[in-house]
Amino acid sequence: MPSLDEIRKPIASELDVFESKFKDSMRSSVPLLDRITHYIYKRKGKQMRPMFVFFSAQVCGGINESTHRGAALVELLHTATLVHDDVVDDAWERRGFFSVNAVWKNKIAVLVGDFLLAKGLLLSLQHDDFRLLKIVSNAVQQMSEGELLQIEKVRRLDIVEDVYYEIIRQKTASLIASCCACGAASAQTSDENIENMRLFGEYIGMAFQIKDDLLDFGYEDIGKPRGIDIKEKKITLPLIFALNHADRSERRKIINLVKNHSEEQDRVDEVVAFVREKGGLEYAEEKMFEYQRRAFEILYRFPESESRHSLEELVKFTTERKR
Ligand code: IPE
Ligand code: IPE
Ligand code: MG
Ligand code: MG
Repeated sequence: MPSLDEIRKPIASELDVFESKFKDSMRSSVPLLDRITHYIYKRKGKQMRPMFVFFSAQVCGGINESTHRGAALVELLHTATLVHDDVVDDAWERRGFFSVNAVWKNKIAVLVGDFLLAKGLLLSLQHDDFRLLKIVSNAVQQMSEGELLQIEKVRRLDIVEDVYYEIIRQKTASLIASCCACGAASAQTSDENIENMRLFGEYIGMAFQIKDDLLDFGYEDIGKPRGIDIKEKKITLPLIFALNHADRSERRKIINLVKNHSEEQDRVDEVVAFVREKGGLEYAEEKMFEYQRRAFEILYRFPESESRHSLEELVKFTTERKR
């Protein structure tokens, strides 16, 4: 499997420039805020989204200044939503370190998230990047809607497969779609190309989240709390499939465990064992690869090039990653 370091090589110098821009874009004259954004910057994530922006721009004509701002915009908003997400999910770990809320408490984490969001918006406005701003704001709206839809389903525990796809399309795929659309739009390509890139990103985003949900059932250290989905009563694809293939009493038993005992580790382990036994992991993996296939199908509408190849590698990384 290609490592992220290998994949990023062709755009390594672009990404270095991006990183310093991203760092600068978080600056504040308030010392506490500056300390926190420094903490966030030091523990940066995989930065897959900026890579999607850059490679998409390259496939569609070339990287320019606005591509850089698009990448910073997306990563700022992504970071803002993760800071908020860890408050919402009560998660103490992110990217292998303490989450912002774990160190500074919820109150501060919420304000930091808002700050990052505003910084992203301002970055675009300062340069009249209205097209990029429109693409990304649309994604942020969908992310909130997806999260709220998920919360509603968590309360009722009645999620079906189609709703699961709708949730992940909104909460995760929309932002990755916006990365690819932003990259394309920054390269001043045709509307058709932008739409194709957007759809490509959406399919990758679907595969990305299914992978994320699969990782939650695994045994490895993934840099954030594992098994947290069931603890949060989030019913993801592997469990949906398993429940659909259980008899009524088994179904009732598992739902009861999720509903009333999700705080108890041995009960959570029981649910995990049930999902494994029913083949839920294999099924979810199959679906993940189906989205991957769809993504490739769209990508191959673009002419063969080095950057198209890089996008292919990035897609493979998405579904094969270990965290
Ligand atoms: C995590 O995204 C949020 C989800 C959509 C599940 P990443 O796994 O890309 O996060 P970082 O930026 O690499 O930490
Ligand atoms: C991640 O959602 C945040 C968004 C996609 C908005 P999750 O809560 O499912 O993901 P992790 O596991 O914390 O990264
Ligand atoms: Mg969440
Ligand atoms: Mg979370």
